[in-house]
Amino acid sequence: MLTLHTAADLKSAVHTAREAGREIVLVPTMGALHAGHLSLVELAQAGRVLGGETGPRLPFVIVSVFVNPLQFGVGEDFDRYPRTLEADAKLLEGAGADVLFAPDVDEVYPQGQAEANHKKAGKAAEILEGHARPGHFDGMLTVVARLFDLAEPNRAVFGAKDAQQLFLVRQMAAQDYPGLLVQAAPTVREASGLAMSSRNRFLSTDDLRAANTLNRALRQAVLELEAGAPASEVLNAHKLQLEADAPQAKLDYLQLVSANDFEPVSENFHGSAILLIAAKIGETRLIDNLEVLI
Ligand code: PAJ
Repeated sequence: MLTLHTAADLKSAVHTAREAGREIVLVPTMGALHAGHLSLVELAQAGRVLGGETGPRLPFVIVSVFVNPLQFGVGEDFDRYPRTLEADAKLLEGAGADVLFAPDVDEVYPQGQAEANHKKAGKAAEILEGHARPGHFDGMLTVVARLFDLAEPNRAVFGAKDAQQLFLVRQMAAQDYPGLLVQAAPTVREASGLAMSSRNRFLSTDDLRAANTLNRALRQAVLELEAGAPASEVLNAHKLQLEADAPQAKLDYLQLVSANDFEPVSENFHGSAILLIAAKIGETRLIDNLEVLI
């Protein structure tokens, strides 16, 4: 595995790999890697569905590790976000990634953060995470676009764990990066059902209990929705129940949106939806979601 720190070195490695007929696959991360991230690397390596005009090509898998200041708001956890590059490199080496790209801020935003070509995320970015974290998705799309421009991947892999992020990246790719395939990897969970997250390491035993309670509520709500219970009743009942069962968790939202357009669903909605939850437990913000077919 190559560990690269500069845009120039990345471009040159990509050029060589492309000349050799490899498929360029990008997995963007902020590091503090866990099994969820590694499942993205695995999907990246599995290659495109066989066939197509040119047949399968051997993936050249680039994993970026960059804690992007632009997507953190004032008072958020940019400073305390875990940075574990050495351990990350070992994990990626073991997983057989081809490149670890770990740039400095200056390398990603050579004109400075203020001068970077800022992306505007649009309407679907204003609700849920976007409402709770103003500017977060603009910053996220700005760095993802920058990484796409540097690596010029044929394919990029994102986790369904961050459903709104995935939706917005797909929207941007459809508009600005035709030919780029954005692939989604299912959420990897602890045995308890809790979604793996780099932020879970901040949870005390008590916090973990609350996080598991939130996760159980999410799963239970999906069962009720799929059994035909009205969405507003299900959501309200669980919000109330969570206040009683996990008082140390500050629930931000429990909301159902259409998988198609990420709009909150109306009462008579039928189709593929996503139930999303976000809460702050202590200083740690956790998000999760599950698909629902109603
Ligand atoms: P980060 O939180 O490090 O996540 C990197 C990728 O891993 C994202 O696509 C995320 O959805 C995925 N991921 C995280 N936890 C997962 C889990 N338990 N199961 C499956 N996939 C999981 O998301 C970001 O970084 C940043 O916003 C980024 C896209 C890198 C831009 O800075």
